[in-house]
Amino acid sequence: MGAIAVFLTVLITIEPLHAKQELWRGGPIAPLPPLENIDPEKAQLGETLFHDPRLSADDTVSCATCHDLSSGGADGLAKAIGIGGAEGPINTPTVYNSAYNFSQFWNGRAETLEEQAAGPVHNPVEMGANWDMVIPKLYADEDIRKTFEKLYPDGITADNIVHAIATFERTLVTVNSPFDQYLRGDKDAITAEAEQGYQLFQSYGCAACHQGVNVGGNMYQTMGAMGDYFGDRGNVDDSDMGRYTVTGREKDRHVFKVPSLRMVVHTAPYFHDGSAETLQDAIRNMAKYQLGREIADADVQKIIAFLASLAGEYERFDPNDYKRPDPD
Ligand code: HEC
Ligand code: HEC
Repeated sequence: MGAIAVFLTVLITIEPLHAKQELWRGGPIAPLPPLENIDPEKAQLGETLFHDPRLSADDTVSCATCHDLSSGGADGLAKAIGIGGAEGPINTPTVYNSAYNFSQFWNGRAETLEEQAAGPVHNPVEMGANWDMVIPKLYADEDIRKTFEKLYPDGITADNIVHAIATFERTLVTVNSPFDQYLRGDKDAITAEAEQGYQLFQSYGCAACHQGVNVGGNMYQTMGAMGDYFGDRGNVDDSDMGRYTVTGREKDRHVFKVPSLRMVVHTAPYFHDGSAETLQDAIRNMAKYQLGREIADADVQKIIAFLASLAGEYERFDPNDYKRPDPD
């Protein structure tokens, strides 16, 4: 395919996105906003529940088992392993900054964090439980029961459990990364290599899909916009169907939520199928299947330097003092 044809196809693929592109000071990426309107006590209860294996059928698996907050908010596995060692069908995304995704899950089947949190509890290969099983276990714990009764008029209910967990998740925001400091005007906050990487990220066209505060998480796109990713990989199964599973529309086959790249340096392996072992592999595949291009190794390295600058340091949420950098 000639360069012009490639350009036109990319333009056609990406064209509907322009309306969505939120420009911040003229660029495609905006700094993560500081935390707002968080109820600190509910967040703290949510933090406890996030780490509580009683949310699983046999008290062995908590949210943190798969979303390890000390290693990027994911599990480092190609595919998640849940209760009884069961392997799930799909890769674990990070929970960091998930509050800023416009929907949850690779295929966007949950609209809110509250709706999302009920999923793993009931999933037979994740926590294998249900609320009728979980609520009595929590009720029997006097500390937890009293905390719920203090914070929620109706005490321990499914809605209140997921609300507390979602409140905690809204604190998992990695503000003030070197790149955000750079965006706010500190030109020395990132290296020259990262700065070149940011230019390449824009000139290759990555930013047409990975953009906004989360550098992703604000649109759906086909995996394989410019190449037959699934044909080349083989062994296609239900977890590869993407939005099609949600909408049943043919045009949604293999369409996924564009993932956030904020914490991507910490969350190998990559893609919904966990097939890219390294960031180098993921970037080469993106160039090939999303942009129809080869990419030079030197450019890959620069883009990695840029991606590394996106990861903010997460400070454990302190309910007594959650002062964050001033908004712009
Ligand atoms: C067995 C491992 C496992 C456990 C336990 C688990 N998760 Fe997940 N989580 C995953 C996987 C895998 C996905 C992606 C599933 C999909 O998209 O179909 C996911 C997706 C998510 C997402 C969506 C992120 C995004 O970018 O779309 C959030 C938020 C999340 N989990 C939070 C939680 C919470 C809260 C709990 C506890 C109630 C939990 N998870 C328990 C493996 C796990
Ligand atoms: C046409 C839209 C589009 C373009 C252009 C695009 N991406 Fe992606 N990107 C996606 C989608 C969709 C996924 C999820 C694919 C999947 O999991 O199957 C993804 C996944 C990724 C991942 C893996 C994230 C993870 O957590 O697993 C990385 C890294 C990435 N892209 C980087 C890039 C880079 C660098 C470029 C430019 C060279 C780029 N992308 C261009 C849509 C795009």
